[in-house]
Amino acid sequence: TAILHWAESWVSHDVAFRLLAEMRVALFRKLDQLAPAYLVRRRTGDLVSMATQDVETVEYFFAHIVAPAFVAIAVPVGVLVILGVYGWPLAVSALPFLAVTAVSPLVARGRVDRLGSRSREKLAEMNSHCIDTMQGLHEVVAYNMGRHRRSEFMEMANHYAEVRVPFFRELTLQKIYMELVTGLGGLIVAIVGSSLVLSGSLDAGLLPLLTLLTMSAFLPISEISTVGRLLADTIGSTRRIYAVQLEPVLITDGEVDEVKRTVIGLDRVEFSYDFTASRALDDVMFAIEQGRTVALVGPSGSGKTTTAHLIMRFWDPQAGEVDLGGQDLRDYVLSDLRENLALVAQDTYLFNTTLRENLLIARPDASEDQISAAVESAGLSGFVETLPEGLNTVVGERGAQLSGGQRQRIAIGRAFLKDAPILVLDEATSHLDAVNEQMVRGALDRLASDRTTLVIAHRLSTVMTADVIVVMDRGRVMESGTHTELLERGGLYAQLVSHQLSGAGRAEGRA
Ligand SMILES: Nc1ncnc2c1ncn2[C@@H]1O[C@H](COP(=O)(O)OP(=O)(O)OP(=O)(O)O)[C@@H](O)[C@H]1O
Ligand SMILES: [Mg+2]
Repeated sequence: TAILHWAESWVSHDVAFRLLAEMRVALFRKLDQLAPAYLVRRRTGDLVSMATQDVETVEYFFAHIVAPAFVAIAVPVGVLVILGVYGWPLAVSALPFLAVTAVSPLVARGRVDRLGSRSREKLAEMNSHCIDTMQGLHEVVAYNMGRHRRSEFMEMANHYAEVRVPFFRELTLQKIYMELVTGLGGLIVAIVGSSLVLSGSLDAGLLPLLTLLTMSAFLPISEISTVGRLLADTIGSTRRIYAVQLEPVLITDGEVDEVKRTVIGLDRVEFSYDFTASRALDDVMFAIEQGRTVALVGPSGSGKTTTAHLIMRFWDPQAGEVDLGGQDLRDYVLSDLRENLALVAQDTYLFNTTLRENLLIARPDASEDQISAAVESAGLSGFVETLPEGLNTVVGERGAQLSGGQRQRIAIGRAFLKDAPILVLDEATSHLDAVNEQMVRGALDRLASDRTTLVIAHRLSTVMTADVIVVMDRGRVMESGTHTELLERGGLYAQLVSHQLSGAGRAEGRA
């Protein structure tokens, strides 16, 4: 048995870890396809625990249960055969006990399963709460939420304990029960064996050996029930992973792999985020000619970022279409489409790695010269010089060691580095001080000059020079035209301008 056990664990671990890696990659790929729409609805902690723990649990299952299960079947069958050879009554009398041992974990499984699934859920809840707290630490401290968050966490921990305790109680009961059955099985073989010895059909010397052999057959089977806990956990985990795999992919690849012209058109676009009743975009229509700049302005919440995200194809519209070079965005191969787009987002995410790596995500094969050119254009060179390790400085998780303006300039640096023919700038200079803004804006203007560009800005001084200004309000396009045209028209744009000039705009809605 020892050799069998060793071989079994060697083989099964190898298989299990390969399986594990594949499951993680598959999960990751799936999440990549679902992003970002799906991720908005899920808590980060949930997904993290899925990609790490849940997958791990499933591995454990394959390494520690599947193969032992094989042993658990092979050993008892072997023992029964041997018993049968020495006297069929022995085999017959041991059989019911073995059968009971094999079947009872299955019977008890329902309860254990349920408790296992629940405890997994509780654990994931605790995880997300913890991650949420860590990420919002500034808010937690500033608003004195520490105690409140802590008591919430305590409550979750207690809930977890509440499902965990009955779970183990159940398992202990099962174990006791198993030991009882094992003992009785040995006893019955000993009794039946003795009667065989008395009737002379069995060698007396063999009886103790056969009894021990019988009892050893119970061990592998009951092992299975002690790993019943794992089985239950595994089912919970598998269910959660499977649920993600079943999630329909909303943003799918098309066939067209070449963007011929970079003219963008939105045609009667309607869009709402699936869990809100009101429309984020309603009948939106405008075009950006090749090489031109269109500015999007409007009050907060009017749908500007949403429009930009639709152009990036983070989402698809529910009605109407967004097209590029006369083709619906849905017709393009996603990776080819995104090659053509550079986004400076309203809030920039930086990875916990060096400044250089953070810039390089825009173009992994950039040369040193290209990197320094991008750093220069984004107005970062002065800042980089003050860093002891320059571009090799680690920026901290989410770029925590940088100021808002520095983070934003890194985002702009990425756009310079990517050098894509279409540029989407969402509040790209909103965090910059006057000096920096002027410098970066000069560089951005140069970048935008021969590219198809969408600029979103609250500061109207930024958008005045655009070829066309599109004014949005509550998801609708209210008016569009050049700065002068719109001023003459005396509509919403003229209002926004006069508000901002009088300084009132800063107080309300920052037009
Ligand atoms: N992920 C989301 N899920 C649900 N609703 C959203 C989501 N993002 C935005 N919204 C809603 O859609 C509407 C438009 O939001 P959007 O971010 O496009 O506004 P915006 O014009 O960019 O505003 P701001 O100037 O403040 O950046 C808002 O009412 C907002 O609440
Ligand atoms: Mg926005």
